[in-house]
Order: sequence, then structure tokens, then C-alpha cells
Amino acid sequence: MRIDVLSIFPEYLAALDLSLIGKARRDGLLQVNVGDLRDYTADRHRTVDDTPYGGGAGMVMKPEPWALALEDVMSQASAGDSDGDPAIGARRPVLVVPSPAGQVFTQAVAQELSERDHLVFACGRYEGIDERVIEWAQKSFEVRPMSLGDYVLNGGEVAVLAMVEAIGRLVPGVIGNPESLVEESHSDGLLEYPVYTKPATWREQGIPDVLLSGHHGQIARWRRDQQLRRTSARRPDLLEQLHSGALDKKDLTT
Ligand code: ADE
Repeated sequence: MRIDVLSIFPEYLAALDLSLIGKARRDGLLQVNVGDLRDYTADRHRTVDDTPYGGGAGMVMKPEPWALALEDVMSQASAGDSDGDPAIGARRPVLVVPSPAGQVFTQAVAQELSERDHLVFACGRYEGIDERVIEWAQKSFEVRPMSLGDYVLNGGEVAVLAMVEAIGRLVPGVIGNPESLVEESHSDGLLEYPVYTKPATWREQGIPDVLLSGHHGQIARWRRDQQLRRTSARRPDLLEQLHSGALDKKDLTT
């Protein structure tokens, strides 16, 4: 998978060199390129923002640097594709625009995006990017404005770190043991069950007896019950969203 990130603070994205995503880059599973939006300005001050039409507080990101940067990413990507598999890159790349006004980024979206060949992330700052860029980009990209949640960050960079990590770990080969993806929060629409490790007694607290029983069926039932209780206590909205058939008969007696 190819990932391009455009930002006026490329240093923010240095964390993508670390841990599992960093290793996936070194292993060639993820090709991550970080570009500086200011490289696509033409003035001495490398200006990327201007005042909003209609007035109001704050500044808006100018459209032309974004257009030049996105055109450059597209031409680099097609140059890179020319000697590769013709099927790769057959679909338009996805342009993810982090914004508190976007659709909420969920595990289902992460899964969907992990199946694409090319993602481009456009990190806005200030009051956002001139809306005409979003319209214009639809010619070459599938444009997805995405929000991490209902709160406001200072810019898209932190959101991109979160999204690239959530997406990248779902790319086949990035996580050594793919089974660990199966039993984690949100993979089945529920929160994960609580986990414990040694010692069995720690500061006078034990662990649930069933986990020491060696009885796999009972352990699985206990974990499932814990998932349901936890989800009902912390995230009742997730239970309401479960499709019919997601709960079995035993779940319904919990
Ligand atoms: N940029 C600013 N706030 C954001 C949010 N909540 N999600 C994604 N990008 C953002």
C-alpha cells in the first residue's frame, strides 16, 4: 500500500517511523511518503493561508498549493506504477481529509481503507482548506472527509497518525499474528473483554477463577459475557447498532 501525507508540519509524522508501522515501512509492506505543503507555494513567505471570504475569525488554507501538491502526488504515483502490475492503482486513490466536519472514522472504515492500494491524507490547519479543493479533487480521487470524533484538534496531523496506525495494522503481513486482530475491541462490534497476566494475585487482587480452570468453553462464554456487559455499561450505542443475528441465544440471557 502507498500512503502519501501532505502537511505544513511534516515533522509531526516522524512517529510513523516507529513501532509496527515503521517496521512495515522497512519491510516494504507500506510505502509512506510525507510531503511539505509549503514546497508548493511560489512566494517568498511560502504562504499557505489567507483570510476567509465572508469574514470571521481565523484563516483558510489557499487552494493552489493543495492542487499542486496533489497533482505531484498523482504524477509520482503513476510513475511508480508504470513498471508494476496493471491491476494495481486501477481504482482512484482515496483522498482522506481529516476534519471535525467529516464522517466518523470507525474500525469498519479502517478495514475498508486497508483494502485500497493508495491513500493520500491532506492535513488541514487553521479553519480548514478552501472547499473548492474538495470539489476539484473528486476528478482524480475518491474524497473522504474523516473525523476522529466529536472534538476539535488543531490540525489533521494527529488524526492522520491515528488513522494510518488503525489502517496500517490491518494490511496483511503488518501484524505478525493475524489472530490478534480477531478478538479485539470493535472487530465484532463489541468492546474487548478484560485481560490479566501473571502473577495470579497482585496487591491482594486475584483473577476470575474461570481463567484458571483450563475449560476453553467456559472461558469463551465468560469472555463473551464480559464483552456484552462492558459494551452495555460503556457504549450502549454499539449494542443498538449490532445487526440482528450478531447475538446468540446465550447472549440474550446475559
Ligand atoms: N481536525 C481537527 N479536528 C479533527 C477531528 N476531530 N478529527 C479529524 N481531524 C480533525
